[in-house]
Amino acid sequence: MRIVPIYCIKDDFLLAKDIFDFDGRILLKQGNRLNKKTLDSIKLLGINCLNVVDQNSYIELENIIKPELKEKSLNLIKSTFGNLFSNKKSTKKSNDFQKILDLSEELIDDILNRNDILINLVDIKTLDNYTYEHSVNVAMLSLVIGLKLGLNREDLKQLCVGALLHDVGKMFIPTEILNKPSKLSQEEFKVIRSHPIRGYDYLKNIENIPLKSRLIVIEHHEKVNGCGYPLYKKNKEINILSKIVAIADVYDALTSNRPYRKPLSPNEALEFILGNAGSHFDFYLVKIFKCTIVPYPNGSLVKLNTGEIAIVKDNFNNFPLRPNIEIIKTSNNFNLGKKINLRENLSLVINEVAYNIL
Ligand SMILES: [Fe+2]
Repeated sequence: MRIVPIYCIKDDFLLAKDIFDFDGRILLKQGNRLNKKTLDSIKLLGINCLNVVDQNSYIELENIIKPELKEKSLNLIKSTFGNLFSNKKSTKKSNDFQKILDLSEELIDDILNRNDILINLVDIKTLDNYTYEHSVNVAMLSLVIGLKLGLNREDLKQLCVGALLHDVGKMFIPTEILNKPSKLSQEEFKVIRSHPIRGYDYLKNIENIPLKSRLIVIEHHEKVNGCGYPLYKKNKEINILSKIVAIADVYDALTSNRPYRKPLSPNEALEFILGNAGSHFDFYLVKIFKCTIVPYPNGSLVKLNTGEIAIVKDNFNNFPLRPNIEIIKTSNNFNLGKKINLRENLSLVINEVAYNIL
């Protein structure tokens, strides 16, 4: 199985994973052969990538959390944000937020049950579900970084709740500004940049939201060099949990399809994070993040600097850009089938993810 952008899918590809609609109902079951008609209706849903099976895709990509738990998380975030949208006054004790606290415990248990988790976030993302999916992805990414950092259970819980709710203030921003496909005016920028304070103000009246979770909401756009917003906090003034969410937030946002730009590939997004370590992001946390993320998951196809196409066979902690690979296409068939350890062959570099083999 491998993930392929919809425009690269050929008629005879088999669907490797069920496709769900906005409400979690199955639209197309795995095993179906894709044709132009089904592809057209999938495109209408705003889905831009699919999990497919072809002759080069025999490796199973692992999910970070159980698909049913991801579905449950998405639906809970969707209903909580939806309720909030229709009734923007916060009550002191909120049932919706208690459910988010309980969900956080479940997500932590699910992630704790895995041994050596490497994040493969090459996942299907839709435009419609962006806010909810983004919240759940940021929570999962943050939890994995938090685990690697050795946080205790209480901090992991506060981290997860804060990550799930980090953009709750966006519910107060008009959607025409949030999803504007063209350049924002100064005034519109100001409105968008008010979401951390709007979210914090909203949550401070709810007594079951932990303090550090609220701090995440107000601090997730701060930068360690003091050039973030809204409070221009610097390095030590920013809570460590907020610094974790800041990395997860930017990584997931960059790899997502937005109305105003195309998604970056996971390796490009990783390079952005690495390039801003110590200025935007906490240097040590970026180091941990680098060992957590897998830009080229096992089973994905990559194009090398030699022009050859290879399939990724094995990934290793600490070396996200240098997995073991096997050449599956060359111009002269010379290296065909050759297995290469990229940590030992430093002249070879992965240039990009390859979707078309021909
Ligand atoms: Fe935000």
